[in-house]
Amino acid sequence: MGLQNSKKLFLDAIKNNYAIGAFNFVNLETLSAILDAANELKSPVIVQCSTSAIKYAGIKEIYAMVKAKMNDLPVILNLDHGKTFEDCKNAIDNGFTNVMIDASSLPFEENIKLTKQVVDYAHKHGVTVEAELGVLAGVEDEVSASNDDARYTNPNQAKEFVERTGVDSLAIAIGTSHGIYKFSGEAKLRFDILSKIEQLLPSFPFVLHGASSIPADMVSLATKYGAKLKGANGIPEAMLNEAVTKHNVVKVNVDSDLRISFTAGVREVLTLNPEVVDMREYLKNGKKYVTQVVKNKMQNVFNSANKAK
Ligand code: G3H
Ligand code: 13P
Ligand code: ZN
Repeated sequence: MGLQNSKKLFLDAIKNNYAIGAFNFVNLETLSAILDAANELKSPVIVQCSTSAIKYAGIKEIYAMVKAKMNDLPVILNLDHGKTFEDCKNAIDNGFTNVMIDASSLPFEENIKLTKQVVDYAHKHGVTVEAELGVLAGVEDEVSASNDDARYTNPNQAKEFVERTGVDSLAIAIGTSHGIYKFSGEAKLRFDILSKIEQLLPSFPFVLHGASSIPADMVSLATKYGAKLKGANGIPEAMLNEAVTKHNVVKVNVDSDLRISFTAGVREVLTLNPEVVDMREYLKNGKKYVTQVVKNKMQNVFNSANKAK
């Protein structure tokens, strides 16, 4: 229980066919909204900050908020998309328990070199490391129609990468995409590629980034109160559930869904009550919808409810 690295939690998730949601936060409201859901459902949880969220909120403030808020839950505090050794070192030195080194845009050998450097430092400090191999599909891609395998994670490279770096988990590219406009075509995840990777790396923990579903009810609510989100789309929940229950995907990253739901809640209060200037009124409502969205993921998509031990 308490703040921990990914080792034990990912093993348990593999064994029991569930995933731990990795939710981005940028302030006290988003952090509390996520932890409220986890506490209510007795779910393990990963709370994570990007380097830009750290710049916004402050790394010492982030750590102090997590420590103060997490109760008795198993919580991983993760650095999301660290780009340099210094990003990762800074997070490790300030109490993060897992770091992602995202060197996926570098050539294979350079990705290995930088990842290995981070792994060596992190492991000395009891911190686990996630790396990434492959290129996440972009907004312009017709993912379903594409037969360009180059940007998907190459299974042989994945095996070599894991063996040479000693990394603890690997983010793979099988058709997910960051942001709220994921596809111009239909969403399709390449489970065939994932299965090949899993044959070469049995019982290894995999991570999906860009895994927001862009829930229609939250998009409608935000739109009703003035947001402009035309064309927003995400990964269907059933696909994510398949990745979690039939494969070794044990960490699923979600940021965009929380942004949309928080924004919907804030807009609702401000639109219906234009006289409101007490920030607590609209922040509270944003927080309420984030908790609702996170609870749905834990209960119905990631199967992590009641898995806190
Ligand atoms: O994958 C990136 C996350 O959604 C964080 O985005 O750098 O705007 O905080 P950010
Ligand atoms: P989404 O934009 O799909 O929420 O992805 C978030 C993410 O991968 C954070 O690392
Ligand atoms: Zn990501």
